[in-house]
Amino acid sequence: MFTKEYALSLLNTGSTEVEALYRRADEVRKHACGEDVFLRGIIEFSNICAADCTYCGIRASNREVERFKIPSDEIVETALAAKSAGITTVVLQAGESQAVSDQELGQIIRRIKEESGLAITLSVGNRSEQTYRYWQACGMDRYLLRFETSDAELFGRVHGSCSLDERLECLRSLRRLGVQTGSGFLIGLPGERLEILADNIMLCRELDLDMIGIGPFIPHPHTPLGSFPNAYADQPEMFFKALAVLRIFNPTAHIPATTAFDAVFPDKGRDLLLQRGANVFMPNITPAKYRSMYLLYPNKPGLVESECECLQCAAHLVKRLGRPIGKGPGHTLKRR
Ligand code: 5AD
Repeated sequence: MFTKEYALSLLNTGSTEVEALYRRADEVRKHACGEDVFLRGIIEFSNICAADCTYCGIRASNREVERFKIPSDEIVETALAAKSAGITTVVLQAGESQAVSDQELGQIIRRIKEESGLAITLSVGNRSEQTYRYWQACGMDRYLLRFETSDAELFGRVHGSCSLDERLECLRSLRRLGVQTGSGFLIGLPGERLEILADNIMLCRELDLDMIGIGPFIPHPHTPLGSFPNAYADQPEMFFKALAVLRIFNPTAHIPATTAFDAVFPDKGRDLLLQRGANVFMPNITPAKYRSMYLLYPNKPGLVESECECLQCAAHLVKRLGRPIGKGPGHTLKRR
């Protein structure tokens, strides 16, 4: 039943049936994950990056970016403040570099764990199994690393130095270690065909992921792909269809309503996603003064603390939908 052909046929759902597709995704979510919406506070702690992904605003070659790294104490304080505000998971995300060394990051993880007991997710790119193991020993519970696209040729074209196999090997390392593993992809990279989108969804299913994050590719003017439109620019409904089909194919994965949807559909993208398959919301808790420097794509919401970029607003949004905020760490729903 869960074949690529079936994924393709669902992605091709016409406008008259699309609401039924969304209702079905919402039902699957409700049945497999329940009504809880889990909040994960994300701290974007450095935009220093050695990688040069052609879509990403903080790529190494973009000289227009002012680079920053948040001092360790401030990262820990931010996490502790989030805990006081009721957050149970923090996500530490940064560019892929040694700007913050493995040891420094290990100490940050240790301090947050010891002082708060928060669940800790890291998202800092391709690393060795040894480094993942060390961070796990420090208290890391989860790791996010999108494969971005399942098409090896397209992957190579946009990433240059890193291959799809290397990325998948990192995901396998994390899985071997027993780290809760998240991955996902960009929707509509230039050159993507619907076939590739279906394959992306199939790969998420094959990898049996604990968490899956996807979002539309948004051209950033200071990148090589800056003047290339999203492959579905003339059918933005495809972004939502992708998430709905992803949910139907991955009933028990935690699926966040990602910020990039709000950049494309201001003030309503994430709201709609929570009603079309998503069950996680990731408020940005990065201290406000750093936010404008972490622009992976333009029109990112929450640069001035507004909309849903504060915890109270996120909680408000969830309540408005009539859903409870998940209590406890919100670990994986998968039993292995
Ligand atoms: N548009 C949308 N998402 C992007 N990301 C990076 N650049 C862009 C862009 N231009 C996403 C990637 C990465 C995540 C942290 O941000 O998928 O994994």
